[in-house]
Amino acid sequence: MNHMNIACIGTGFVGVVTAGVFAKLGNQIVGLDIDEAKVASLKLGIVPFYEPGLQELLLETQKSGNLTFTTDYSIAISSADIVMIMVGTPSSADGQADLKYVFAASESLAPHLKEGAIVIIKSTVPPGTNAKVRAIIAGKTNVKFEMASVPEFLKEGTAVEDTLHPDRAVIGVESDRARDILVDLHKPLTSNVVIMRPESAQMCKYAANNYLATRITFINQIADLCEQNGADVQEVIKGIGQDKRIGSHYWYPGLGYGGSCFPKDVKEIAAYAHAVGESESMFIKIDDLNEKRIPKLMARYDQLVGGFAGKTVAILGLSFKKNTNDTRVAPSLQVIPWLIDRGAKVVATDPKAISDIKSLLPDTVTYVDDAYTAISGANVTMLLVEWDEYQHLDLTKMASSMLAPKYFFDTRNQYDPDSVSQAGLQYKGIGR
Ligand code: UDX
Repeated sequence: MNHMNIACIGTGFVGVVTAGVFAKLGNQIVGLDIDEAKVASLKLGIVPFYEPGLQELLLETQKSGNLTFTTDYSIAISSADIVMIMVGTPSSADGQADLKYVFAASESLAPHLKEGAIVIIKSTVPPGTNAKVRAIIAGKTNVKFEMASVPEFLKEGTAVEDTLHPDRAVIGVESDRARDILVDLHKPLTSNVVIMRPESAQMCKYAANNYLATRITFINQIADLCEQNGADVQEVIKGIGQDKRIGSHYWYPGLGYGGSCFPKDVKEIAAYAHAVGESESMFIKIDDLNEKRIPKLMARYDQLVGGFAGKTVAILGLSFKKNTNDTRVAPSLQVIPWLIDRGAKVVATDPKAISDIKSLLPDTVTYVDDAYTAISGANVTMLLVEWDEYQHLDLTKMASSMLAPKYFFDTRNQYDPDSVSQAGLQYKGIGR
């Protein structure tokens, strides 16, 4: 493979991981961000979020000289064979992706573009965005360039691993030349490269995330029906998962999906469907069900414990999922205010996210360093995120330090209901 000069625009989650991984493969990478403080800290190898393996990757690739960071577009772009746009796309008021940062980056990069450069959009954007970006760039340069779309499928918590070993690379291109260059670039990561037109590549990203969000919503609905008839959703998953068309992977029921992608991508595809005249989209309903999920389950828990007023609740897990300090659309952000509004006292813990969540929650929450301290003296324990630390708690120890009614709400179905009951706790999982 010929090593390439690559500019990575945007040093958010996807930008930093992608820059590190392509630098590790031997390419010359310049990471660019307009945020000077961010760039200064990345130059020191300081990552502004917790992601396993990322800090080491950045230190290693900066030390080898393959990765540098700058705020200067002329430094980043002038010698780049490939420019990857990985800036944020927040949701706008109507639910569609707001492309202002993508367009601003396009304007800024255009005057410095090298003849023949390939501009890749990696941010999640609606189909049709490439044409708009092409027009913006063409308005500011006379050099020939190509547009491509290579969506990112990494998951937080396993981002480095996912990027180094993807299931597939989806590459949307308009020419054989761009296809050959990008296949070559991705070859060390995977031989499973799927080539298509850019619009299809962009739809792949929306389709994948919306399918997964729908799958989670589906199993949550089945779980709720199981609650009505004595079935155990974990047994149901085992039973139907044997059907090769279905499978049992990526299918744990819970409090609904959160994080920075699924809630936003479902709202965006619903808004996109509406905007193009497909108003009977199922994604509106998926979004609605997910929004209502936590209040629905909390009402059920409230009944079980005889009202949360005056009760102490231990919360285990504050991030949106394990192995990240990301708190965007985390269940704790809905659950904890709900409990406090009803008069509960909340003692919370998390291995990584306490400092990130503090300013987002009421001041009355008490934070402690470990699960047993949180649980001690609590009437109710709620497992919100299945961090490894919370997967093998000593149930007898829990039972002896908790106070009546000693409820254990396992919203991740991590524990065997019988073992929890035998230890002297009242168990309630999801759909069982
Ligand atoms: C997701 C996609 O998986 C990834 O491909 C895309 O690039 C970005 O969005 P991420 O948000 O990091 O990644 O996390 P993921 O592990 O997919 O979980 C998303 C949400 O769904 C979390 O709230 C998680 O708890 C929930 N989830 C996931 C479930 O409730 N049940 C499941 O079976 C899986």
